[in-house]
Amino acid sequence: MDIKIFKTAEEASKAAAEIFKDTLKTGQEVFGLATGSTPEKTYEILVESDLDFSNAIAINLDEYYGIASTHDQSYAYFMNQHLFQHKPFKETHIPNGENTDAEDEVTRYDAILEKYPRDLQILGIGSNGHIAFNEPGSSFDATTTKVKLTDSTIQDNSRFFDNKDEVPQEAYSMGIKSIMDAKHIILMAFGESKADAIKKIIEGPVTEDVPASVLQKHPNVTLLLDEAVASKLSSN
Ligand code: PGA
Repeated sequence: MDIKIFKTAEEASKAAAEIFKDTLKTGQEVFGLATGSTPEKTYEILVESDLDFSNAIAINLDEYYGIASTHDQSYAYFMNQHLFQHKPFKETHIPNGENTDAEDEVTRYDAILEKYPRDLQILGIGSNGHIAFNEPGSSFDATTTKVKLTDSTIQDNSRFFDNKDEVPQEAYSMGIKSIMDAKHIILMAFGESKADAIKKIIEGPVTEDVPASVLQKHPNVTLLLDEAVASKLSSN
């Protein structure tokens, strides 16, 4: 793991945007994208840049189950607001939260992942160590799955909803095996609330109890951290 610690989240976000730029420069154009507050600044920097994504393919990690793409908390809506409506991509893909036939949706999304191996995958991390919606205990061998969100994720995400009861309890998520297929993975994490998770994934054992610990096994991972999230690392 290549671990880079920045004074602020903004500096880390600039570094992430530079990696997007370098990836595009080498003609690699399949981007695995994430939602959440973590990548927001990076997307803002990309939107303000002169980078051209019109030949690029975007494949998102996850989507709430049972939510319309027009709902302002859907991840489809988030991506349009923060990136796609400002920076057009050739194709964008995201699980369809309105498809109640889970088998059909999982098969559909796995076919997309098969067709478009990711050159660059960006990830946030949950305070419980999840990546995408792969919660603790998820199999490292999983491809796309319909998952049940843990209480801690529902609690973390309730800040975006009027109240906790409105947070969807299930989601479609790219599985860990598919995430690990990407050539290069960037994980960004900011703030003290995730310091324990970051310590575990860097210094702890590789275990399905801490989903992001699997990244220790990937040959090309960059961690972009701010000082607060790195504050519990032994080597700090
Ligand atoms: P956040 O979520 O970026 O909103 O903190 C990250 C995640 O839960 O994976």
